[in-house]
Amino acid sequence: MNIYPIKSGYSFINIYLTSHSKTMIKMNTSELFNLKGKTAIVTGGANGIGKATALILAKHGANISIGDFNLEDAKKTAKEIEELGVKAIAIECNVLKDEDLVNLIDKTVEELGGIQILINNAGGGAEVSKASFGVKNGEIFNALI
Ligand SMILES: NC(=O)c1ccc[n+]([C@@H]2O[C@H](COP(=O)([O-])OP(=O)(O)OC[C@H]3O[C@@H](n4cnc5c(N)ncnc54)[C@H](O)[C@@H]3O)[C@@H](O)[C@H]2O)c1
Repeated sequence: MNIYPIKSGYSFINIYLTSHSKTMIKMNTSELFNLKGKTAIVTGGANGIGKATALILAKHGANISIGDFNLEDAKKTAKEIEELGVKAIAIECNVLKDEDLVNLIDKTVEELGGIQILINNAGGGAEVSKASFGVKNGEIFNALI
């Protein structure tokens, strides 16, 4: 078996060539995606896909700002994230309201020092999606985008 170390931007990736010449890449994702010192806003981050995304980013070192209209759940998730050793804040935010989004940005910069990652997760589900693409309710689509 031959081992070829290749230097990438972040770390070494070892490529193992098997006896059948199949290539297997072994990666250490914690080194490849080192997010220490970065801050991520995750809208709808209190539950579901947003929460899962927030936890993954936190596991890789990012501080997390959760913007969600369910403040109670957002606080619970922020607490869970802080147990991973990063900073986390919960901010009440309805992404359909401009003033809430401005507040989310301002508070995040104030408390976590900046924003490097945006996860625009909060959408609205099937009912909003149907309305969003309709001619009459285009403003919902624009707000979410
Ligand atoms: N789950 C799926 O199979 C699926 C498939 C395709 C797309 N999506 C989209 O992915 C996103 C997350 O889905 P999920 O399944 O994790 O949903 P979820 O209901 O589990 O969680 C959504 C979270 O977003 C928050 N939220 C909802 N509307 C908000 C708003 N206007 N402002 C701020 N916060 C808001 C809720 O309080 C909740 O915490 C949604 O946009 C959804 O439409 C989900």
